[in-house]
Amino acid sequence: MDLPKLRIGRVEVDIPIIQGGMGVGLSWENLAGSVASCGAIGVVSAVGTGYRHPDLVERDKFGRPIGSYNIHHPEALKRIIREAKAISGGRGAIGVNILAAITDYGRVARDAVEAGADIIISGAGLPLKLPQYVDGADVALVPIVSSARALNLICRTWKKRYGRLPDAVILEGPKSGGHQGFKYEDCFKREFQLENLLPSVLEEARRWGNIPVIVAGGVWSYRDILRFLKMGASGVQMATRFIATHECDAPLIYKEVVLEAKKEDIILLKSPVGYPLRVIRTPFVERLLSGVNGWKGCVSNCVTPCNRGEEAKKVGFCIADRLGAAWLGNYEEGIFISGANGYRLKKQGIIHVKELIDILTGKKEDPTLSKGRVRRIVPLLK
Ligand SMILES: Cc1cc2nc3c(=O)[nH]c(=O)nc-3n(C[C@H](O)[C@H](O)[C@H](O)COP(=O)(O)O)c2cc1C
Repeated sequence: MDLPKLRIGRVEVDIPIIQGGMGVGLSWENLAGSVASCGAIGVVSAVGTGYRHPDLVERDKFGRPIGSYNIHHPEALKRIIREAKAISGGRGAIGVNILAAITDYGRVARDAVEAGADIIISGAGLPLKLPQYVDGADVALVPIVSSARALNLICRTWKKRYGRLPDAVILEGPKSGGHQGFKYEDCFKREFQLENLLPSVLEEARRWGNIPVIVAGGVWSYRDILRFLKMGASGVQMATRFIATHECDAPLIYKEVVLEAKKEDIILLKSPVGYPLRVIRTPFVERLLSGVNGWKGCVSNCVTPCNRGEEAKKVGFCIADRLGAAWLGNYEEGIFISGANGYRLKKQGIIHVKELIDILTGKKEDPTLSKGRVRRIVPLLK
């Protein structure tokens, strides 16, 4: 069965799949551009772009961008978006994911508009002022929520203050990679699982004039996509599966860490952003869990809720430094994010985005669903 097109504002794509933004550095020009070139929506992450173009950026002796201007750098983001659009060949669409919690949020939203983003996607906090920052620009706005209540608050605020509504909304359940919009214990409760949250969010979206609802967090296969579309979703956002692609912008070691992970290695940590953060147990995480505080001072001033290192000091790590270290390929010191399904990637192995899209649209058999042994060769960590 062919999947339906996805329309978000004036953007229409053939394949109703959004590749979720993955910071720091997993979804930049190569991944987002390649996904868009297949007719889906590729999403560039706007966080930590100073790591991608160090030539533009003032850094300390460990390579960490200094201050929020350098870590979320305007020209670096523009270069990434320009490149992603070139790789897309004009197909699909390019979105930008901007964490609502980042310092300089408004400025980064304006940078994304100037760079020609088709869509801005924003979560990890409620993007209540987003329309103000884009100031009538021709860009679709898509908040990420974890409840009907959050959607209601965004719609009420945007309608009253700015006379506009979201062009679509992403409902993200608690199996996703990175930050969770739930309390730790709620992530495991039945009532907070994606399929159980969807009906109330669909109802809320209908009340505001049929805002398209896109589901995210643990969506894995063509079958899952069909199931959620049948329930009333207009599309899906998926991230973890895209890590195991040649085009994913992460270094090979990152992909190997995810491919090697066992189910029990994927856990939730407390993050300086104030939400549970889903990561893989790697040497730094083991040290943290054994009581070592790995905070080394605030250099990048990356997220507002951290309060220039106050929260990082409490939880024992700086999120920008640790995700930056992973992007630089530092297995010992980095933090490596995955969705709860990351352990299932073994059977996929590293493939091209085109092949993954064929699998997700039912054109090719899904190797991760076959019973029995791992079919693909998994590169081993040295
Ligand atoms: C490595 C990684 C990094 C992520 N970084 C971000 C991010 O910077 N901002 C964001 O809104 N979501 C982020 N996410 C969440 C994804 O965009 C996506 O919504 C979610 O992971 C979907 O669930 P799935 O990974 O099970 O497909 C990240 C996910 C992963 C796996």
